Amino acid sequence: MNTIPTLTLNNGVVMPALGFGVFQSPPDQTAAAVETALHTGYRHIDTAAVYGNEREVGQGIRRSGLNRSDVFIETKVWVSDYGYDQTQHAFDKAAGKLGVEQIDLLILHQPAPARFEQTIAAYRGLEKLLADGKVRAIGVSNFMPPHLDTLIANTDVVPAINQVELHPYFTQPAVQDTDRAHGILTQAWSPIGGITFYPGWGENRTSTLTDPVLGKIADAHGKTPAQVMLRWHLQQQRSAIPKSTNPARIAENFDVLDFTLTTDELGAIDALDTGVRHGPDPDERDPHSLELVIDEA
Ligand code: A2P
Repeated sequence: MNTIPTLTLNNGVVMPALGFGVFQSPPDQTAAAVETALHTGYRHIDTAAVYGNEREVGQGIRRSGLNRSDVFIETKVWVSDYGYDQTQHAFDKAAGKLGVEQIDLLILHQPAPARFEQTIAAYRGLEKLLADGKVRAIGVSNFMPPHLDTLIANTDVVPAINQVELHPYFTQPAVQDTDRAHGILTQAWSPIGGITFYPGWGENRTSTLTDPVLGKIADAHGKTPAQVMLRWHLQQQRSAIPKSTNPARIAENFDVLDFTLTTDELGAIDALDTGVRHGPDPDERDPHSLELVIDEA
């Protein structure tokens, strides 16, 4: 079985670089997908309170028969739980649903630009959870450079991670540079560009999976475009968390360790960046997000 490379976070915690994502995985399929992923060899699962499947992630981990300490669990606090006390309670909810005592990496799901002081208070709550040993590392998601600068100026612990939309059609160089300057690891969500082909997420999109440049590179290595994209992340020292509920694709996305992209190939993939975001803009206010209540455990 292949062993996934690891990345060391800025507080010394070691994390498998390739994780398994469960965004949009229906709860009734999540436990099976997580169990399959763990049997395939993944040792890092990424979920979120707002995905509504933390319980099933916990079930999948338990069903795998692995020891708790062998699996790196990452989850996210939703914006309606932002605030110093609320965010500490959000840990109780997440840990209760997952069925674990400690969470490896707990991150803020997104900035709440209209209530940034609440975002900072939430991060202060994460710092307290870290100090109390309830989480092993803390971080953020969807933070753009100005959000990061403000957060870091007002808090003590530099985030270990910033999870952002990142695939060949949207590479966010400015975010990657800012993360690097602060010692924050960039983690890619939608790492194979699922957001460019999710059904129902907008018209006239071009799927990364049918990109001719990626297709040519894939053919040259006897691999698939998805595998090439994951390899591109790993060689550029990013964490990536591809989602699938399909056992064959779960295995395909893990089988990325037996080939190496050349510098020219990496550059050709970088050059596919369109600068156009496919997912939600972190600076746009979403009036519904604060109303969404995350259930108690
Ligand atoms: P499925 O769960 O049916 O496999 P991303 O993580 O970049 O957002 O991509 C997730 C999307 O890509 C999901 O729709 C998933 O569907 C699909 N997917 C995952 N792995 C592959 C793959 N290797 N080839 C093609 N599609 C994939």
